[in-house]
Order: sequence, then C-alpha cells, then structure tokens
Amino acid sequence: MAALIAPSILSADFANLERDLNAISTADYAHVDVMDNHFVPNLTLGLPVFERLAQVSPVPIDAHLMIEDPDRWAPAYAEAGAASVTFHAEAAAAPVRLARELRRLGARAGLALRPATPVEPFLDLLAEVDMILVMTVEPGFGGQSFIEGTLPKIRRAREAVSASGLDVWIQVDGGVSRSTIERAADAGANVFVAGSAVYGAESVPGEIEALRALADA
Ligand code: DX5
Ligand code: ZN
Repeated sequence: MAALIAPSILSADFANLERDLNAISTADYAHVDVMDNHFVPNLTLGLPVFERLAQVSPVPIDAHLMIEDPDRWAPAYAEAGAASVTFHAEAAAAPVRLARELRRLGARAGLALRPATPVEPFLDLLAEVDMILVMTVEPGFGGQSFIEGTLPKIRRAREAVSASGLDVWIQVDGGVSRSTIERAADAGANVFVAGSAVYGAESVPGEIEALRALADA
C-alpha cells in the first residue's frame, strides 16, 4: 500500500493558512489539528475556521479532533467537508455509534490513541473504523520528538488489521521526519502526519516527496 503523506498545518503560519494549504498541494491530505484546551492544554481552531479551510484546501482534509465530547462535536466536521474525521478513544463516550455517524455523513472514521493508551481493547472495533491513529507524541503540540516506545503498538495494530482482512489505515502523528518515518513504516503505518518537518523544510514539496520516498522504500 503506497504511503500517504498528511502535513499538519499546526506548523503553518496561522495568518496565512490558505497560502500554506496551497503549499502542500502535492500531499495526500491536509491534517488539521482541532484542540479545545481541555482534552489537551492547547487551543487551535474550531468549526468556523475549519469550514473555510475545507472550502479552500487543494487536498482533502484529515481532521484530528483533540477535544472533549467528540460524540457531540465530531459530526459537524464531517458535515463541513472533512474527508476523514479522527476522534480520541479516551474522549469518546460511544465510539462505535460515533464512527457509524461519521461514515453515514460520508467521512472516513478514525480512532486515535494517546501514547499510553493500549490498542488491544479496540481491536474488536476494527470493522467500525477506517483508520487507527497511533499518536507518536503526547498530543497537544508540534515539534516534539517521536516516542520510540509506540512502535510495538503500531506493529500490533498492523498485525490485527492484516489478520482481520479489513482495509483499515494506520496513521502516525508526532515527531515524524526523515529520521523516524522509516521505522514507523516498517512497523506498519501507512499514513504519515508531519508538521514541523514539512513546514520547517527549505522546500515544502521537496520534503513531502522525500518523506513519501522513505516511507515507500
Ligand atoms: C500534535 C498534533 C500533530 C502535530 C505534529 O498533537 O496532533 O499533528 O502537528 O507535529 P510534528 O510533526 O511537528 O511533531
Ligand atoms: Zn494531529
């Protein structure tokens, strides 16, 4: 399965989001981090801004909701045009019901796990989701270093997906760069979020291509 690259606009210039979305037109997705200052100690943007981003983005939007009560708020992101909506397992009261609702609204449904959240309790739900997001840093901020201890969890998730025969994607988010992406790919990830690595690069399209080539190698 070819690697998919989803640059995170958390590392973009928030005064120039349209320009910085256009800069990643060769990526597979634009990863948009929604933080509410409760689930994580940081605040980014909410629905009104998200709706405009979805209208102007040259690539489909991958929403990552780091928010409390996603059961209540996540469907609106699907309605706003997100191609994929990922909510946190630790925050959802009824993850299966929510995933079904997101799919009904035409979005891919993603289930995110903090670094310390095990994947095993969720393996029975694989048929209900389109993607598992294994956080490779503690959610909340860009620019942190990749937690190597998450590699076994990526591997376990990939093994379970392969055994199920389902086409569930495995995404990694946090500290993904030229120096870590190969290990994440080797462990079984196929969707790669990268914020500071992409937007901090001298050439944004060049970095997207370099990451894709390393992940596909
Ligand atoms: C962190 C966010 C990430 C963040 C990754 O909580 O979910 O998407 O932008 O940033 P980097 O790639 O810089 O670690
Ligand atoms: Zn994210």
